[in-house]
Amino acid sequence: MSELISTPSGQPASQFGFGTMQFGVGTPQRDCAAIYNLCRAQGINVFDTAYVYTDGQSETILGQLIAQDRDDIVLMTKCAYSGSASGPNLTEQFDESRKRLNQDMIDVLFLHKWDDETPLENTFETFARFKSKGQIRSIGVSNFSAWQVMKAKTVAKTFGLSVDVIQPMYNMVKRQAEVEILPMSAAEQIAVTPYSPLGGGLLTGKYNNQKAGRLVEDSRYGARYDQDWAHKTAQDLTEIAAQHDVHPATLAVAWVAKNPDITAPLISGKTPEQLQPSLDAMSFEMSDDLYRELNRITRTPPPATDRLEEAT
Ligand SMILES: NC(=O)c1ccc[n+]([C@@H]2O[C@H](COP(=O)([O-])OP(=O)(O)OC[C@H]3O[C@@H](n4cnc5c(N)ncnc54)[C@H](OP(=O)(O)O)[C@@H]3O)[C@@H](O)[C@H]2O)c1
Repeated sequence: MSELISTPSGQPASQFGFGTMQFGVGTPQRDCAAIYNLCRAQGINVFDTAYVYTDGQSETILGQLIAQDRDDIVLMTKCAYSGSASGPNLTEQFDESRKRLNQDMIDVLFLHKWDDETPLENTFETFARFKSKGQIRSIGVSNFSAWQVMKAKTVAKTFGLSVDVIQPMYNMVKRQAEVEILPMSAAEQIAVTPYSPLGGGLLTGKYNNQKAGRLVEDSRYGARYDQDWAHKTAQDLTEIAAQHDVHPATLAVAWVAKNPDITAPLISGKTPEQLQPSLDAMSFEMSDDLYRELNRITRTPPPATDRLEEAT
């Protein structure tokens, strides 16, 4: 579904996107350019950032890097992770994001998370204003459940809008999206650019024998991934990767990309060296047998309905 999001020059989204959540803090500015160039050399045209990343440095640095290539880039940012999804907060954050990115127009603007307190009508009325001014081309929602996406789609329609893209978490140890979110996006023709294909670094296998990295430095990621069963998956993945003479990260990213409902996984790394195994997944041909083998070392989430034994 890569044609569902495109560059201003009309090119479809690349097979992978790159996420700049580390730009300016985890990744010093000089490495950001090297990483950007590496991605571009591999044909990546989707770049993701957010208002909340690295106190604005991510957007500022990305804006500088894409300046020369702008028409050939799918530029995605996200708003309202902090504060509400109400019109004034969206407008304030989006204006600031465009200033940092040095862009009048952003290709995809995501609502970063669901907001229980703000009626969706308020949010989409604001998105409609952005769209009518030519400030956005496509609308996305991130971290939404399937019913929340469908509700947003219904409200969007009343403003003549659609939900074009979603950004869920998805990787070998976080497979919830398979139950409702991915089938929904396929049925509704919504593009999917999922995040954290390496489980924040877990699926590189490095935590098998060390305790350094995001999972120990960021308590949110520790709570998400620092679990015995998830470490077991990472260990099994490392063994299978060794048998295939490939980096575990390459297999983990290729596993995400193998799902036909995925448009472009958002890969990331703090250095060009870290990023390389994820980039290698772009050309890794995963056989159906290997895909099945990898599925067996992960937890398959239960289905959404309880009468599957009667399904034909
Ligand atoms: N919508 C949302 O709520 C949301 C949430 C998260 C991310 N995102 C987006 O998705 C993008 C990717 O997410 P992510 O950063 O979580 O992706 P990820 O691929 O799961 O994790 C990347 C991290 O793994 C570690 N790593 C990667 N390659 C490695 C290697 N070869 N060796 C050792 N460690 C390695 C690094 O962290 P350490 O070195 O610190 O261990 C790196 O920062 C983000 O940049 C952002 O754009 C969106």
